[in-house]
Formats: sequence, C-alpha cells, structure tokens
Amino acid sequence: MIKNVGIIGAGTMGSGIAQVAATADCKVKLFDLNQEALDKAKVALEKILNRLIEKGRIDAGEKSRIQGNITYVNQLKDLADSDLSIEAIVENLEIKQKVFKELESYVSEDCIIASNTSSLSIASVAASLQKPERCIGIHFFNPAPLMKLVEVIPAVQTSQNVLTACAKEITRWKKVVAIAKDTPGFIVNRVARPFYGEALRIYEEGIADFATIDWAMKSIGGFRMGPFELMDFIGNDVNYTVTETVFNAFYQDPRYKPSFTQQRYSQAGYLGRKSGRGYYNYGDVEAENAF
Ligand code: NAI
Repeated sequence: MIKNVGIIGAGTMGSGIAQVAATADCKVKLFDLNQEALDKAKVALEKILNRLIEKGRIDAGEKSRIQGNITYVNQLKDLADSDLSIEAIVENLEIKQKVFKELESYVSEDCIIASNTSSLSIASVAASLQKPERCIGIHFFNPAPLMKLVEVIPAVQTSQNVLTACAKEITRWKKVVAIAKDTPGFIVNRVARPFYGEALRIYEEGIADFATIDWAMKSIGGFRMGPFELMDFIGNDVNYTVTETVFNAFYQDPRYKPSFTQQRYSQAGYLGRKSGRGYYNYGDVEAENAF
C-alpha cells in the first residue's frame, strides 16, 4: 500500500508529479535543495489549480485537498517515511547515485526508490543502492498532470513485486502504464530523437527556419507541437543532455548525433520557455509556464 510519496527535485517534472500523486490522495513530500524552486513550485501549483477551478474541472474543496496533501521540504531526510520515492533531479548519473545512496540511509527496507530519468540506465542508478531490487524507472512526460502515458522500467535488478506495485499505483493515479525495457531512451525518447535531430539538421543545412519547420510538422504532419516548440517546452538543456546520453549509450550511433545548434543554445542559456528565450522568445515566463 503506497500512501506516503517523496519527490526529489521540485523542478518542471517533480512539481508536476507531486500534483499527480497529491490528486490521487497520497501524502506527498516535495524536496529540493533550492528553496527558490520549492517556492516557485508552490506558486505554480496555486495558479494551475485556480485555472482548473476557472475551467470547472475542480472546486475549491478539491483545490485545498490537493494543496493540503503536499508538504514542501528542504532536507532529504524528511522523506524518511516514504513508501515510494521518485527522483526528478538533474540528468546526471553520479549526482543521482549520490542522492539515492543518501536516501537509502533514511528510508525503510520496503521503500521503493524510483527515477524519472529520461535516458540514463536504471541498472546503473540501482547499482548505487544496497537493495537494488527496490529500484525502478518511473518515467512521466511533460506536463506530468496532463500527459497520460507513464513508462515503467524495471532494471535487471528490480524485483517483480516492485514492478507490480508500481504499475498498480501509477494506474491508480489515472495514468496509462507502458512497461519498457531498460534501454537508452526507453520507448518514447528513443522514437523522438530523430524528430528533434532531423529538424535541427534541416535548420543547420539552411533548408528552413524554426517557424517553417514547426508549421510544416503541425499543419501538414498533424503534430500538436512542432519540434522547436516542443524543445522549448521541454527545455533545451534537458533535451540536449538526453540526446547526448542516448547517442553515447548507443556507442555513438550517428542516428542519434546531438546538434551543435542545440548545444550552443543551451550554453547561451536559451533554454526555452523556462528561461524566457529558446528558439522563440517568451514574454511572461511565469504566465507561459502556468499551463
Ligand atoms: P528541472 O531542471 O526543471 O528541475 C530539477 C530540480 O532538481 C531543480 O529544482 C533543482 O534545484 C533540483 N535538484 C538538482 N540537484 C538536486 C539535488 N542533489 N537534490 C535535490 N534537488 C536537486 O529538471 P526537470 O525538467 O524537472 O528534469 C528532472 C528529471 O526528469 C531529469 O532526469 C529529466 O531527464 C527527467 N525528465 C524531464 C522531462 C522534461 O520534459 N523536462 C520529461 C521527463 C523526464
């Protein structure tokens, strides 16, 4: 029975996952080292819930129930009573392993420890734990409250009980679970690499600009968002790192080669909506993010 959920990282994904778990009536502790990230997550949730009230999707009672289910904490040890912990911090294996090791020293024997990584090997993350059989990938999509699909990824070390419990709980959270193998990019991020990569190459070869490529993919290709809009939405830094990881994990297979344009945009801080500028300019970042 999963009641207490600890979320590590209150950024784009962690705050969305916290909302999903709190809506499903879990008691959520949302942890971040950065107080500003916690404050922002709290304000963003307030805006999102107000928007849902305006649209008639929830009432004021539901809003306070969801908000009341989330506690914002700034110490990892506050997650000690978690039945399930989901990590959504920076996409860096060493940092994730370090956090997992520390987390395991606080939580109970039965706590499931999950990573929301987009591209790292769950087996490598699990290897940092004394009980690697409790580790699993639970990969939400952005924005977590809206996107139905969740990939659940058992590592070679993961126990069947942990896989079953997670698939059941995530289904209870009203998501659709796809069980994926622990291979680079899992299913969706692997299929998506050529979508971004070819779009960037078309731009780099001078064939078309960002807006034209996005227009073509939306109005002719039938996609809801064009590749550049989507990269701006996901975050260029996050998207670039995922491509780099998948490329290296496939032994530098040129199909997944990262783009210099995206690397330079990331280095320049043109991260997309979250920084106010990416392939496009965004005026009011707060308003843009309050979907
Ligand atoms: P983000 O940059 O929005 O948020 C990361 C948060 O983690 C920040 O608030 C940061 O302060 C915090 N953090 C960093 N190191 C920490 C530590 N050691 N302890 C506690 N907090 C720490 O990143 P985002 O986009 O939420 O991504 C998080 C993870 O989710 C990554 O592994 C990413 O690959 C994955 N992911 C991202 C998606 C996206 O569309 N952005 C989609 C699905 C998965």
